Amino acid sequence: MFQDIIQKKRDNLELTKADIDYFISEYTKNSIPDYQASALLMAIYLNGMSNQEISNLTLAMANSGETYNYPANLNVVDKHSSGGVGDKITLVSLPIAAACGVNIAKISGRGLGFTGGTADKLRAFNMNLSLTEQDFIDKINNNGCAIMESSINIAPADKKLYSLRDATSTVDSLPLIAASIMSKKLATGAPNLVLDVKFGSGALMKTAEKATQLAQQMIDIAKFSGRNAVALITNMDEPLGTHVGNNLEVIEAINTLNGNGDENFTQLSVEIATYMVMLGLKIDHDSALQLAQTALKNGSALNKLKQIIQAQSGVFVPDAIKTHSSTTHILAQTSGFVTHINAQDIGNASMHLGAGRNTIDDDIDLTVGVLIHAKVGTSVNCGDKLATLYGNPGDETIRLTQNAFTVGNTPPKKIPMIYKVLT
Ligand code: URA
Repeated sequence: MFQDIIQKKRDNLELTKADIDYFISEYTKNSIPDYQASALLMAIYLNGMSNQEISNLTLAMANSGETYNYPANLNVVDKHSSGGVGDKITLVSLPIAAACGVNIAKISGRGLGFTGGTADKLRAFNMNLSLTEQDFIDKINNNGCAIMESSINIAPADKKLYSLRDATSTVDSLPLIAASIMSKKLATGAPNLVLDVKFGSGALMKTAEKATQLAQQMIDIAKFSGRNAVALITNMDEPLGTHVGNNLEVIEAINTLNGNGDENFTQLSVEIATYMVMLGLKIDHDSALQLAQTALKNGSALNKLKQIIQAQSGVFVPDAIKTHSSTTHILAQTSGFVTHINAQDIGNASMHLGAGRNTIDDDIDLTVGVLIHAKVGTSVNCGDKLATLYGNPGDETIRLTQNAFTVGNTPPKKIPMIYKVLT
């Protein structure tokens, strides 16, 4: 009886594989009611899970729907970010790695809350993101990369459980987050995975320690299921790059591929591409970095992006990517140095403008968002532009953006973008 399973976890005893398989298969079939599943989630939230339990939970969730397989010779790589404000790294690192000869199978999701999703950003190119498994593999074979939107058929148990976690205050549980992310990655089958696990005010994990724990958990799950995974623990305390909001971020990604990107953003995108190249081509870090830097510099990464878009019936016309016609500038109230930009506040401002969703079916406005003119460390004079809001902000959004910036008298210490790499 399911009560026995709840009781076991309530009493902090380990669940068996059979317990977990039963829970996931019956809950996915709607045979376990939400009130019982909620009780188990809360017991997991309070008592945690062993590594074995987490791995069993992840596999059961991964196998609750469709699973993909790729020919072994492709040695496919996937990349996942735990999400952050202004995170458009995929749009830069994927074409760089693909231009270096890596085969990439990217399954992208829509954004939820103040963090965005690649599937939304790719709407700027009008690409077809609904591919059959065979189409997906053919495109990887022909172009070295294919991107598709995650569907309801991939890890359906996760979709149901995620909604329930949202409604029962059990989202913020390390075992449940690790199992949720990795179930989708295992279902979609890439044997190599680069994980970008972010920490800071604009990320799910607020501290580097928590992000490291999550990353280690995900690497353990990957190992358990016979995959290679590398995790970069990266700083998300200020927004990533200068553009936040779907079309604005696409414009920044294209600028970056043209060699005109923000320095930190470019460096992190190249580093993530480097780890994709290491796994995909089985070469060392320095050789992979050299290939990635060359692909960015000589324009082959930008050409690869065009090729990927066109292969999926999209159009690559950067000048046609729209931003909202109404703009509001946020100005510095004092002179000094920008010492901090609260990423979560900028993410929320962008969301209030219409760039993000409260629920997965909400409509979003691709043209709105926030352009940051003064990143952390910039010297500003009173009256200089700190940011520009695209869209029609209310007073609260203007206040939120203004207060997101701290201007002080002394330049802040430079914080490295990469805190740690776990392999
Ligand atoms: N992203 C996911 O896919 N699942 C979580 O639980 C949290 C972030």
